[in-house]
Amino acid sequence: MNEVLLRTVELRRTFGGLAANDCVSIELRRGQVHALLGPNGAGKSTLINLLSGDIPATSGQVIYRDQDITRLSPHERSLIGIGRSYQKTNIFPGFTVRENCRLAAQSREPRAARIFSDAAAWGPYREVVDRALRHAGLADVAGRRASELSHGQQRQLELAIVLATQPQVLLLDEPLAGMGHEESLRMIELLRGLVESHAILLVEHDMDAVFAIADVLTVMVNGVVLMTGTPEQIRSNPEVQQAYLGADEATHG
Ligand SMILES: Nc1ncnc2c1ncn2[C@@H]1O[C@H](COP(=O)(O)OP(=O)(O)OP(=O)(O)O)[C@@H](O)[C@H]1O
Ligand SMILES: [Mg+2]
Repeated sequence: MNEVLLRTVELRRTFGGLAANDCVSIELRRGQVHALLGPNGAGKSTLINLLSGDIPATSGQVIYRDQDITRLSPHERSLIGIGRSYQKTNIFPGFTVRENCRLAAQSREPRAARIFSDAAAWGPYREVVDRALRHAGLADVAGRRASELSHGQQRQLELAIVLATQPQVLLLDEPLAGMGHEESLRMIELLRGLVESHAILLVEHDMDAVFAIADVLTVMVNGVVLMTGTPEQIRSNPEVQQAYLGADEATHG
């Protein structure tokens, strides 16, 4: 069985009276794309935020390779290998694709070192940045300004920026959102290329894409995990079909 990199133990997060996540226990393994499904408001983004440290848990634990990281900050989690995409907010449009990745790679340095390092000094980052660009399919456009990229390429840049932080775990909240068919296929191919060396958690509404890429799926409804299983197990479970697949048609057309 593949190595468990990140897991949660009865994770709970409330907003006022609402339990956005309740008793959530999942395992992310290296070598697996783990898809997170569920209707709007099910708690998927909340779970990603709890794993990345962007919001604190109300109770329960987040364990990374046997270390309890429940109280670590997002930056501390990034340093030990948990990468998440922040959609467009992390892209500097006026900078080149390569510079965007270098800034992300550099974010691992202590603040003092960052201030004194020469902005032009690629030194230790060149290899990491080149690898991130290659794995995100952007090697050919490394010198372009981020603002000149197509929508699909900007999503690839979000992936490259995460990869430049050298993560073991990739937390991706709807990385295919707004993409055309070709762009989606490209991203799926890139993620398949990354999974051998990473654990990937992927939130995605497009069922065709999900079943094309996922090794394991977890279905959430109203903050709780309804079921975790293989694509076949999920597809054939009547409870899942009723609770999620039916609800999905209603909310997503
Ligand atoms: N910061 C917040 N403050 C208050 N309530 C929140 C907050 N974030 C999420 N919620 C609530 O928690 C529940 C779960 O939200 P979440 O964003 O995790 O759902 P989701 O599964 O990602 O949905 P979607 O598919 O629409 O992205 C929702 O009822 C939402 O309104
Ligand atoms: Mg969401």
